[in-house]
Amino acid sequence: MLKRKNILDSQDLSIEEIEEIISLAQDIIKQPQEYADLCKGKLLATLFYEPSTRTRLSFEAAMLRLGGQVIGFSDSSSSSVKKGESLADTIQTVSCYADIIAMRHPNEGAPKYVANISKIPIINAGDGGHQHPTQTLADLLTIREARGSFEKLKIGVCGDLKFGRTVHSLIKTMSRYEGVEFVLISPKELKIPSYIKEQVLDKNEIKYMEVEKLEDVMEELDILYMTRVQKERFFNEADYVRLKDSYILDRNKLEKSKSNLAILHPLPRVNEISEDIDNDSRAWYFKQAKFGMYMRMALILKVLGVK
Ligand code: NCD
Repeated sequence: MLKRKNILDSQDLSIEEIEEIISLAQDIIKQPQEYADLCKGKLLATLFYEPSTRTRLSFEAAMLRLGGQVIGFSDSSSSSVKKGESLADTIQTVSCYADIIAMRHPNEGAPKYVANISKIPIINAGDGGHQHPTQTLADLLTIREARGSFEKLKIGVCGDLKFGRTVHSLIKTMSRYEGVEFVLISPKELKIPSYIKEQVLDKNEIKYMEVEKLEDVMEELDILYMTRVQKERFFNEADYVRLKDSYILDRNKLEKSKSNLAILHPLPRVNEISEDIDNDSRAWYFKQAKFGMYMRMALILKVLGVK
């Protein structure tokens, strides 16, 4: 059903397609040997115009674990971009070589623009402060494993809600499930963009509140999604320095939480989560990074039409 589809926005996947990807990822986790050769002869290109650890490496690990191969760059200054080549020409060229492209770019909408040029499917691996749909897939499997269901959850999203693309994709997706509520926790300077409030939360009649203090809402939350203040999107260093440590989740703050709270973070963390809670049963963020690889394996299989 998904074959040859571009994945540019978290809304590009229907609820049914998300369910299929989750089931497939869960099966891959159970019996990875059954999937080890399914992408033999297929090539993934990872074109990363912005830094990455998990997204790029998990895409590459995903393709390699499916028996496929990988080409690409992790730093566009080592490609012909440095010589002045346009994004459109790079994509035209790579789409002659590979079967699927995962691309990260600082410009919002860049993956959508190149999807019209590419002859092969484009997966958005993060476009500026806009969207990051495959991180949402990792988040969804984590929530499913932690809580068993997506419905009736109170989800706290904390940190840089203005520039955090993972937050935008997650809210858009989770707003489609029954009874989900959001608590948006941020300094006033980093509040969720008004288009998300109007076109997603209000439009779907989702309950939400905006607060500045994490401590005030901790006991109500089922999920706490922490995020890093997105330094690279700030115009001015002084603002970043003032806001960067707005939230630091530590043992003390966790004391009031539910015992089955699930703490997620797309990573990288800077200071937002103290390392002394990494071994707490409520900390899911490293499992989340692992789930991201399995969800990308499932997505690649679907988009290439192998499964
Ligand atoms: C996120 C991103 O790139 O948007 N990282 C990731 O993909 N796991 C979050 C971030 O960089 O803060």
